[in-house]
Amino acid sequence: MIPSSKWSLHRFFAKHPVIRKYLPPTALYQESLLDAYLRQYDTVYIKPCSTHMGKGIMKVWKQEGGYALVKERGQTVFAPSLEALKERIGQSAGESKHIIQKGIPLSEVNGRPYDIRVMMMRNGAGKWQYAGMLAKVAGADSVITNVARGGGYVTTVRHALQQSRAVPPENVKKLIRELIDLSYQVCTHFNKYKHSSQIGIDWAVDKQGNLALIEVNFDFPSHGLFAKLSDKTYYRTIKRLRSQYLALRARRRRKKPASSR
Ligand SMILES: Nc1ncnc2c1ncn2[C@@H]1O[C@H](COP(=O)(O)OP(=O)(O)O)[C@@H](O)[C@H]1O
Ligand SMILES: [Mg+2]
Repeated sequence: MIPSSKWSLHRFFAKHPVIRKYLPPTALYQESLLDAYLRQYDTVYIKPCSTHMGKGIMKVWKQEGGYALVKERGQTVFAPSLEALKERIGQSAGESKHIIQKGIPLSEVNGRPYDIRVMMMRNGAGKWQYAGMLAKVAGADSVITNVARGGGYVTTVRHALQQSRAVPPENVKKLIRELIDLSYQVCTHFNKYKHSSQIGIDWAVDKQGNLALIEVNFDFPSHGLFAKLSDKTYYRTIKRLRSQYLALRARRRRKKPASSR
């Protein structure tokens, strides 16, 4: 799989007049940015550019007498000074590139943060189609909502939004429609970045009910996540759209002479 550099994807989506409004403030990580980010935002995320599934993700924040850092689901580490914090981050980050990003205060279900995965698939006509959505709830003490590495679980978006009270009950439907509409815009814009036939988009809902775009997973977004919901409708839709798209691709390939492939 081609590593989807988080930084190049961020810059790409920042060109879109609508989607850019949903991107958390982000920069390529440099030690010199840490102080400003920590002054401006309650929490700050530092994420490797080209790994996935929550690997290596750090959350840092200011604390009485210093700073705190958690990596993935690890122990909270205390750093008594900014210098000590930088060193700690440097040890974990090594030579690889990272981004620094405003931490979104994710809304919570029973005290655990969640984000929303919207699954978009190309259909049997080769067009983008919304296939389903779910909420990924973080595991205990996890700073990531990735279900496998973060130890979390999935539930329906309606349940998560209602439980968390991030939005008043009468606005849940509207927010779900907005998520679908924005996800179509993400896919249409992504066409200019790279060809993909299935995209899993991670949206955050903050405690005020605002949406933020966390990540665009292309190439191999998990279908299995949707099999974990007790209602298998989305899972079946995803599998059906996938096979219809693959059939279209096979037909197109048969039409092209071998020499032009
Ligand atoms: N800026 C942020 N604010 C709050 N939570 C975040 C932020 N960035 C990442 N996370 C949490 O970490 C998880 C993994 O981050 P993500 O950017 O999707 O990286 P990965 O490619 O490793 O999945 C997200 O699903 C979310 O739970
Ligand atoms: Mg992710």
